[in-house]
Amino acid sequence: MIAPKRVAVVVRDATPADREWISNLLRERWHDTLITAHGELIDALELPALVIDDRRGLATWRQVGGDAELMTFDAMPTGCGTGTALIEALVARLSKQGCARLCLTTTNDNLSALRFYMRRGFRLVALRPGAIDEARKQKPSISLIGQHGIPIHDEIELCLALD
Ligand SMILES: CC(C)(COP(=O)(O)OP(=O)(O)OC[C@H]1O[C@@H](n2cnc3c(N)ncnc32)[C@H](O)[C@@H]1OP(=O)(O)O)[C@@H](O)C(=O)NCCC(=O)NCCS
Repeated sequence: MIAPKRVAVVVRDATPADREWISNLLRERWHDTLITAHGELIDALELPALVIDDRRGLATWRQVGGDAELMTFDAMPTGCGTGTALIEALVARLSKQGCARLCLTTTNDNLSALRFYMRRGFRLVALRPGAIDEARKQKPSISLIGQHGIPIHDEIELCLALD
């Protein structure tokens, strides 16, 4: 069997020159730069970000106490190793900074993200039934139907312990 070809990637910090691209990407992928998670509305455009050159992936995160929270995570296109390279770079960065965990919130329909994270060591830490129904009141652009035609209702939180 031939192993999938991994493309060499460069991961770098976002710069002010990336701001317009990030804003457009967040609006295209998440309908807004404002992201809802566990009842909070957070402007991802103002967060630290890692970019895969040349703009094939973006991760934004914030510090929450001793943990980091991944707020948005996108690869374009998917399935080419971009997400893996990006999460590995972020984990290395946060471990060096002494973060205890990298946590994130996803939705009950996002089976590909759940697979991606759990394959990379993330553990389920919380289920918030109906949290997306509540979030939709703040952000009506959140889709009713997600991947595989699954109705989107709930939040799932995952964390990765960092060494
Ligand atoms: C979740 C997401 C960021 C993952 O990024 P990605 O670039 O698709 O991830 P990768 O390509 O690194 O890995 C995906 C799979 O493709 C496989 N893969 C990697 N390189 C590959 C290649 N060259 N050819 C074929 N498959 C490949 C990986 O092995 C992996 O499979 P695995 O999980 O069984 O190990 C991406 O799917 C995405 O942008 N989703 C939409 C936005 C989203 O839902 N974000 C998460 C919000 S919580």
